Amino acid sequence: MLMLKSHFEVDEQGHLIIGGCDSVELAERFGTPLYVVDEQRVRENYRRFYRAFARRWRDVMVCYAYKANSNLAICKILQSEGAGAEVSSLCELNIARRVGVPGERTVFNGNNKSSAELELAIAEDVLVNVDSLQELHTVDRIASRLGRRARIGFRVNPDISAPTHPYIATGLRESKFGLDVASGQALEAYRMASGMETVEVVGIHCHIGSQILDPAPFEEEAERLMALVAQLKAELDVDIRFLDMGGGLGIPYKPGDVELHPEQLASRVVPIIEREVDEHGLVPPTLAFEPGRYIVGDAGVLLARVGYCKERQGMPGWVAVDAGMNALIRPALYGAYHHIEVANKMTAEPEQVVNVAGPLCESGDFLGKERRLPRVEPGDLLAIFDVGAYGLAMSNQHTAQPRPAMVLVNSGRAEVVRLRETCEDLTRLDRIPGWLT
Ligand code: LLP
Repeated sequence: MLMLKSHFEVDEQGHLIIGGCDSVELAERFGTPLYVVDEQRVRENYRRFYRAFARRWRDVMVCYAYKANSNLAICKILQSEGAGAEVSSLCELNIARRVGVPGERTVFNGNNKSSAELELAIAEDVLVNVDSLQELHTVDRIASRLGRRARIGFRVNPDISAPTHPYIATGLRESKFGLDVASGQALEAYRMASGMETVEVVGIHCHIGSQILDPAPFEEEAERLMALVAQLKAELDVDIRFLDMGGGLGIPYKPGDVELHPEQLASRVVPIIEREVDEHGLVPPTLAFEPGRYIVGDAGVLLARVGYCKERQGMPGWVAVDAGMNALIRPALYGAYHHIEVANKMTAEPEQVVNVAGPLCESGDFLGKERRLPRVEPGDLLAIFDVGAYGLAMSNQHTAQPRPAMVLVNSGRAEVVRLRETCEDLTRLDRIPGWLT
């Protein structure tokens, strides 16, 4: 049975339609492997997320997490929706500037920000979420050299366990992120910062992990952050005006995954904040979130062409396509599930169980294992779903495979927003030293 999300269609030829475009035609016109992103879906996801919170809280800022997909066109779409930017590198900050997100709507995160990154962030009035005491001293030094007051928050580590892959759970005490709340390290950081001329303490930040479909850890996060905010007011007279709860809202990838709607999340989290603000007479803060996956994840599909198929007696056979772990590393890296369909045979009944592999020389080079698909033949087109986040963004050139192109589709229009790399691109930065020529 098909598990298509509502923004996809199937035409009478049994072709997958995305953003009003026939995926088979897109693959012919732009080549494969090809990332396809549905502009309307990105906009809808953003609006759904923003409205869920804005209905319940006066002052909400949604800073799109650039790491999920930092393509200029995608970032431009979100800027045009009014989204802020969550950045974690110099180049992401640069992209935010280029698409017109102002410093005041940008937050900079990271556990090891370089001096160059901090300098640019402070010069541009970006909110820096400081991750360690040593970083606070670096910020102090840079701000005083620039003659500016850096706007800062602290990333705190509330020791929350999130039900997700261990590589993307970030709120546990043993993780590398943030200042420890339990031992008083976080409070101490605020105490030090509140005595510094060079910084203006405005915020608190936490990100407990990614791909979370259970509201409970977010509630716990809100409880712990608000307890600290109340303590900061009572003990240091610090007003936290920017409460940044990070990203992490998951999406259903697998049949059977139960979606957590932003509405549900907001209905669970906002009342906790409201209650604490009232109870402790706090300044109502800007409520900020940094979603990445939720905004772009299900808006993207990867189209890949079938080369060869082979059978294995007594076990699933193999279907080899032209996209592998170079184009989409999530299955290899996290054992992640991405739903796969045959884009030119959407109405055909499944009749075999196969593994789907890429063209690279590693056994980790697969996109899916044991998938029930219609009869697949060379030349067929596979659609790999939910790759808009952490797909192209994490692609690589292993075995000198050029990275795929990306097209943006909207109401039947399609335009390349990322060119396909060429062999020249792959060697453009290489040099042969004189003694070898
Ligand atoms: N804010 C911070 C500080 C983060 O570290 C992240 C993601 C986000 C926001 C956005 O989280 P999201 O809403 O997308 O869950 N490569 C992995 C995901 C890594 C997420 C890292 N941090 C994957 O493919 O699943």
